[in-house]
Amino acid sequence: MNDKSALKQLIESDEFSNRLNLDRKTYGLVFDKRTLNAIYEVIKKYDIDYIDFPISSGKESLIFNIKLRDKSTRALKIYKMSTLKFSNTMEYIKGDYRFDREKINRSNVVYVWAQKEYTNLEDIRNSGVHAPKPYGFYKNILLMSYLGTSRGPAPQIKDLQTGFNEIYLKLRKAIWTMYNRANIVHADLSEYNILYYRKDPYIIDVGQSVSTKHPMAEEFLKRDIKNISTFFLKKGIECDAAELYNYVKGGIDA
Ligand SMILES: Nc1ncnc2c1ncn2[C@@H]1O[C@H](COP(=O)(O)OP(=O)(O)OP(=O)(O)O)[C@@H](O)[C@H]1O
Ligand SMILES: [Mg+2]
Repeated sequence: MNDKSALKQLIESDEFSNRLNLDRKTYGLVFDKRTLNAIYEVIKKYDIDYIDFPISSGKESLIFNIKLRDKSTRALKIYKMSTLKFSNTMEYIKGDYRFDREKINRSNVVYVWAQKEYTNLEDIRNSGVHAPKPYGFYKNILLMSYLGTSRGPAPQIKDLQTGFNEIYLKLRKAIWTMYNRANIVHADLSEYNILYYRKDPYIIDVGQSVSTKHPMAEEFLKRDIKNISTFFLKKGIECDAAELYNYVKGGIDA
């Protein structure tokens, strides 16, 4: 393609196939007018050269591999305006003292979500846990480091064949550190939201992650631990949900 302008590529992508629906709140359509404006601003602000390839297209977000003018690579996450469920989302915002002072309504909740993922990534990384480095956010768009190679993104741990013992040991430590040092509960932890990159598990998708002081934090932690132990048990790793929970709650690094 000669014209590699990022906006042009986005406009030509599948999400735009039904051009008549551009400005309607259509299910699955991310590029409404507000998002287009946000993309335009992000392209200028972060000196984006072009969109290299799409990484993932889910119910609530789209992720692209992008190139900056200085040739570095990043991942761009665009939250869909129309499918982020207001009530579900509020459960993770209300009660988190870091965010519940924001004036939130249906039309700006998705912006708070992007900011929340940015802040969570910062806090998680500052505690020493592997996660993408956040570079910035604007409206419903988040810019972060890309985990992967030019051939494609790093695999989710669900797609690995071996190495589960070592990954489990590293993850135990990561969950402990996230809880006791970053004071964050992931709240959607599973084999889908952990990427295997440069021989380490990386925690991703932390928009919904909450402070350990959130009234539902305990419940979310138990659910995370259940998901993780169920997955590793299936992979033949000796792991026990109650033991992992006690380890994380123990506070003192054993
Ligand atoms: N920084 C990154 N580098 C490389 N790949 C990434 C990155 N972030 C996300 N991905 C890939 O994109 C997928 C979806 O990302 P993420 O889990 O953050 O979004 P999501 O909101 O859960 O999307 P969905 O709506 O599909 O559930 C991940 O499973 C991963 O494969
Ligand atoms: Mg995910």
